[in-house]
Amino acid sequence: MKNVLVIGGGGREHAIVMKLAESKHVGKIYCTPGNGGISKYAECFDVGATDIDGVVKLAKELKPDMVVVTPDDPLVMGMADALQAEGFLTFGPKENAAIIEGSKVFSKNLMKKYGIPTAQCEVFTESEKAVEYLKKQNKYPAVIKADGLALGKGVIIAQNEKEAVNAVHEMIDDLKFGKSSSRIVIEEFLTGPEVSVLSFTDGKTVVPMISSMDHKRIGEGDTGLNTGGMGTLSPNPYYTPEIAKECMEKIFIPTVNAMNAEGRTFEGCLYFGLMITPDGVKVIEYNCRFGDPETQVVLPMLETDLYEIFEAVCQHRLDEIEIKWRGGSCACVIIASGGYPEKYEKGFEITGLDDMGQAHGCEVFHAGTKLDGDGKFRTNGGRVLGVTAKGESLEDALVRAYAGVEKIGFSGKYFRRDIGQRALKALK
Ligand code: AMP
Ligand code: GLY
Repeated sequence: MKNVLVIGGGGREHAIVMKLAESKHVGKIYCTPGNGGISKYAECFDVGATDIDGVVKLAKELKPDMVVVTPDDPLVMGMADALQAEGFLTFGPKENAAIIEGSKVFSKNLMKKYGIPTAQCEVFTESEKAVEYLKKQNKYPAVIKADGLALGKGVIIAQNEKEAVNAVHEMIDDLKFGKSSSRIVIEEFLTGPEVSVLSFTDGKTVVPMISSMDHKRIGEGDTGLNTGGMGTLSPNPYYTPEIAKECMEKIFIPTVNAMNAEGRTFEGCLYFGLMITPDGVKVIEYNCRFGDPETQVVLPMLETDLYEIFEAVCQHRLDEIEIKWRGGSCACVIIASGGYPEKYEKGFEITGLDDMGQAHGCEVFHAGTKLDGDGKFRTNGGRVLGVTAKGESLEDALVRAYAGVEKIGFSGKYFRRDIGQRALKALK
C-alpha cells in the first residue's frame, strides 16, 4: 500500500483526501495542516502549507510514497521543486510552470504569443500611464487585475472612471496586494457564461475533467463581494460537446504545447477559467492547481482511482490510463460564517454532523473547521463547510445538498439559497 502526504487544509484538500481514501492503492494518508474534518480521514500535522522547509522536513520524517501539493502559494513558491529535489514523487507543477497562475502578465503574454483566445489587455507598472490609458479608452466596465497572487481578490471590475482610477492607485501606488500589485493588467470586459475546466496533464497528454460552475459572489442573484466561491455544480450545462471540442483544439492543447515550447512543462492539474463569449470561448484565467470549491463537485464524479491518475501524471504516462466519470450531477453548497468575506467570528459549535464530520446523504467537505478537545467541530474560517450531493439530475443533486445544509447549524450560519438556479434555467 502507498502512503500519501497532502499539503493544504481547505475543502479542496478534504475532497482529495476523501477520494484518496477510496483508492485501492492507498494505505495511510497524512495532511498538513489539514482541518477538523480532514483529521477524521488523515493524520494531520502543524506545518503550514507555505512552509517549504517545514514540509520537506515533515516528508523526510514520514517518507510518503507520494506528496500532493494543491494550494497556489506553495506551488508558485517552488514547493514541488523542493520535494522533487529530495526524491519525493510529487503531484503539482514546478515553480517555472506554476507561474501560469502566479503572474497574469506571464499568462497574458503566453496567450498573446501562442494565439490562445483571451481578453485584450495592456500591462502597466506606472499609475499615470495606466490612468492615461483608461481615459483614452473610456470604456466601462474595465477590468483591472493585479499581476500576482492576491487571495482571489486581485480582480476589480470598475464600472466607471472613478472606480478604475481608484483601483489603479490602490494597486500600484498603495501596493494593496503587496508586490503582487506593483504590476497590473487592464483588460477588456467580456460577457457570457463562465465555465471551470480542471484538467490532468503530464505535459504530453491533457485530459479535461468533468466541467463545473462556480458561484463567486456572496449574495443571491450573483450580487455583492467576490468570495472564494459560495457553491459549485458539475457538469456545467453551458459546456456542450461542441464547446468542449473548441476548447480542446483552441485552448487546452495549445496551452500545454505553449508551456513546453517555453521550457516550462506543466505537470499536475491545470485549471482553465473560461468564458463563453459571443466571439467564442476565451480564457479568463489559468490556475496551476485544483479549483476550490470546484474540486468538491468534480472528484465525487470521478470513477477512476485518483491515486492511479496522480501516479500516471508524475510518471508521464497519462496516455496509458482511461479516466471515467459517473453520470448525473453533483452540487456543493458552501456554508459560511456570517459576515464573510469581510469580518466574521470563529469558534462556534457546529451541530448536525456525525462523528466523522459528515451529514447523512451528503459528503461534507470541511473548509474552516477545527476539532476541539471535547470532540466537537467548531467554526474556524470564513467558508466553513461544503455540503455536497450527487443526483440523477442537477435538480436532484441540489435538493439533496440543500437538505444536508438544513440539518447543519452554527451561530451566524450563512449560505446562498440560489446555487444552481442559473444552470437549471440553462437546462430548460
Ligand atoms: P479571475 O480571478 O481572473 O478569475 O477573475 C475573477 C472573476 O472576475 C472571474 O471569474 C470573472 O467573473 C471576472 N472577470 C475576470 N476577467 C474578466 C473579463 N475580462 N471580463 C469580464 N469578467 C471578468
Ligand atoms: N474557484 C476558483 C478558484 O479556485 O480559483
